[in-house]
Amino acid sequence: IDIACGVDLGGTKINTGIVNSKGEILYNIKIPTEAQKGPYEVIERIIKSIYEVVDKTGVKLKDLSGIGVGSPGPLDAEAGIVLCPPNLTGWVNIPLTEILKKEFGIKIRINNDANAAALAEYLFGKGRGINNFVYITVSTGIGGGVIINGKLYNGANSNAAEIGHHTINFDGPRCGCGNYGCFEAFASGTALAGFAKDVVDSGKDTIIKEIAGNRAIKAEYVFEAAEKGDKIAIELIEKEAFYLGIGIANIMSFYNPERIAVGGGISCHWKVLYDKIMATVNKRALKPNKEICDVVKAQLGENVGLLGAALLVLRESKGVL
Ligand code: BGC
Ligand code: NA
Ligand code: ZN
Repeated sequence: IDIACGVDLGGTKINTGIVNSKGEILYNIKIPTEAQKGPYEVIERIIKSIYEVVDKTGVKLKDLSGIGVGSPGPLDAEAGIVLCPPNLTGWVNIPLTEILKKEFGIKIRINNDANAAALAEYLFGKGRGINNFVYITVSTGIGGGVIINGKLYNGANSNAAEIGHHTINFDGPRCGCGNYGCFEAFASGTALAGFAKDVVDSGKDTIIKEIAGNRAIKAEYVFEAAEKGDKIAIELIEKEAFYLGIGIANIMSFYNPERIAVGGGISCHWKVLYDKIMATVNKRALKPNKEICDVVKAQLGENVGLLGAALLVLRESKGVL
């Protein structure tokens, strides 16, 4: 049985752990990314976290099959370079693989965070046995990972399934990537928080402001307010589900999957969102595409990215994918 180190690099936290080829996490730690300190500080933190999980488990570096990193894209997985992710400020053409290789001297693999998560969900979660499968994550950003005929689809330069940046309204709000009206600019957790801030600032009658107190408004507070019957919050969530429905219907057209699994922070509210999402999907997706495809909440929760990152390495050894 092989073991590898996985690193899920996110805009707010880094989740690093040791994982075996059965998909079991032997040990993991979560630390804040502190992205505002810039890429080299963040990489220092990644390196420290790797040493820490290695120390705590008593595993020797040479016993690891390697280190896998899931990072927000766009990136060049083959060259091991993080190009210019909208949600990691200051990262431009960072040669992450080279830096980690120099430090640890073992096999390093990087790929898009959502691609990695799709691998994990495919092998150990809601994608099991589903050979045409799409995983999407909806949180700070929106990412996607696509399994086609049982294989992760990377595209020509490892940036396939950047579904957060497909345009759903050409007149829409500015996205972190510089474009306008991206799926991510409408339906991410960040977008929902932004729309909530707009209604609060415009003085509309809503308890979102009270819930937030003196904290910055988060998507979470909108769900909380809606649960308490707040009309404005309920409207915001209806819109959120509508945008998600549009994106998901589009994904059905792009890839004709048998299943789409939704993960990320927003998916914690699946019960509230599901029927509303499906109302839009049913209106907009092509009949054969929607008939073959179910839309479910992803299974693996907040360690899905970490598992996926380790699988970037583990899948290369015999017996795993
Ligand atoms: C990035 C994707 C990433 C997603 C989730 C998007 O902004 O473009 O590469 O998968 O955020 O982190
Ligand atoms: Na992706
Ligand atoms: Zn975008």
